[in-house]
Amino acid sequence: MFFHFPVKHQAADTTIFSVMSALAQKHNAINLSQGFPDFQIDSDLSALLHEASVNGFNQYAPMPGLPVLREAIAKDFKARYNLDVNPETEITITPGATYAIYTAFSALLSAADEVIVLEPAYDSYIPNIQMNGAKAVPVKLTPATFAPDWPLIKDAITAKTKAIIVNTPHNPTGTIWSKADWEQLADLLRDTDIYVLSDEVYEQLVYDGKEHHSVLQHAELRERSFVLYSFGKAFHNTGWKIGYCIAPPDFTRAFRRLHQFLSFSVNTPAQYALAHLIGKENREPANTLLQNKRDYFNGLMAETPFKLLQPSLGSYFQLASYAHLSDMPDTDYAKMLTEKYGVATIPISAFYSDKSDAKILRFCFAKKEETLKAAVERLKNVEL
Ligand SMILES: Cc1ncc(COP(=O)(O)O)c(C=O)c1O
Repeated sequence: MFFHFPVKHQAADTTIFSVMSALAQKHNAINLSQGFPDFQIDSDLSALLHEASVNGFNQYAPMPGLPVLREAIAKDFKARYNLDVNPETEITITPGATYAIYTAFSALLSAADEVIVLEPAYDSYIPNIQMNGAKAVPVKLTPATFAPDWPLIKDAITAKTKAIIVNTPHNPTGTIWSKADWEQLADLLRDTDIYVLSDEVYEQLVYDGKEHHSVLQHAELRERSFVLYSFGKAFHNTGWKIGYCIAPPDFTRAFRRLHQFLSFSVNTPAQYALAHLIGKENREPANTLLQNKRDYFNGLMAETPFKLLQPSLGSYFQLASYAHLSDMPDTDYAKMLTEKYGVATIPISAFYSDKSDAKILRFCFAKKEETLKAAVERLKNVEL
């Protein structure tokens, strides 16, 4: 018998996130690598999950998602963005945003299509494009500031360009798109048939009084966009793996045509619980909590030899450079930090298809203060 599994993407078998988390565990290191909180979720959310199960919400949910959850999302978008989103025809609940990104690509892409990916980029984008038979066209963000490089993006557009994927607030750099950035993109795409995938999973984690600018607020771009969200980020429950896709009705139909044969539906009690927590008054805004953590972490980091890049304006992540300390490649350096000093981080080369290495590490600050403090105590000892 001869077994053969076709190669569907060119990424490694195990991602750097799994590698670093496993290394952290092996060396009993403090894990600031993978982006997940180590603090408790809202106790009301846990109670609602229990209530859902006791009340009999234990069977398959409708394919597009529980109506009560889709309605709660629509109400929330009206309240927070003054946007009208139709819960029947424009919102689909998914098992996480990664799945929603894959499904949107799958709905869109055919062989030979090209997708522009702005790098550094969340690691699922390029494999997901390749798994759908299409070609990823990486375009680097401007070094150091990580702003979109419009001339480079323009140059990357060809007759085969089917889509561009945007991520704001941005993992790993903590930058956010301004209204002007969306305007620039609209100018670039106006006379094309290029679609937009907008990954806005961190939309509720924006700091320093800044606003999140969604592609949904740009009427012209909204008509050509799939927008992907994750509850995990705003509710600190990444392990629930629930997200959603907002897209125009014909886009949503194409998305659901695949979704109904991929997962069909999503964990019912978790949908019930989230539906009843969204919009609850007096809930501590996630951005206040996370901004405090960023400030706490960045304040402590001043006592270490690392140099912070610009303060994160959104997401869970802060970048810091060690270029002045060592020439070691960033992956080796991150492994050394884990093994020798007991702190796990993510090397930024992992977010570039050509593994560009500017000697920068990503730190996740979505952690308890005691975790951040203990990590920094260890980092203070770093000499190389
Ligand atoms: C930019 C970005 N998109 C999507 C996701 C995945 O979200 P989910 O856990 O809902 O699949 C993450 C998680 O880290 C992310 O950073």
